[in-house]
Amino acid sequence: MIWKKPALFRRSISGAALLVLAACSNVAQAATYTMFRDPGCGCCLNWAGHVEDGMNTKVASVDSNDMAAIKTARGVPQELWSCHTMEVDGYIIEGHVPAEAVAKLLRERPAGVAGLAVPGMPLGSPGMEAGDRVQPFEVIAFGSAGRSVFASFP
Ligand code: CU
Ligand code: CU
Repeated sequence: MIWKKPALFRRSISGAALLVLAACSNVAQAATYTMFRDPGCGCCLNWAGHVEDGMNTKVASVDSNDMAAIKTARGVPQELWSCHTMEVDGYIIEGHVPAEAVAKLLRERPAGVAGLAVPGMPLGSPGMEAGDRVQPFEVIAFGSAGRSVFASFP
């Protein structure tokens, strides 16, 4: 019977992986992704492409010449500001947040979290690729529960 174990093990792993993928893509496809950006900024579009690839979805892009007003109206703390601001499923995503962190937020929906932010423009973050140059960065959760580190990259 020992020879059967690896096959059973493999089957259960791939089954679990498929379930996780199905759950993720259901959430991703049901939601509407709307990104606000300054028309003069290109890294936002690179980031939107990363989100589209990573979450198997489409991101609508809306140009704005007053991103400060967009961010303020959506409650993004000024210390966390980056370039673009995205709305998805009632959440705010500020800056170059990796798709996997967005997926985790939509999956886990932690209490008191209004959104995620990667402040500034860290080199090597999605949409900010610069050859081998990588600045470690954190994804900050913000909202009524305060601020906390939601994920760290790389
Ligand atoms: Cu940017
Ligand atoms: Cu940008």
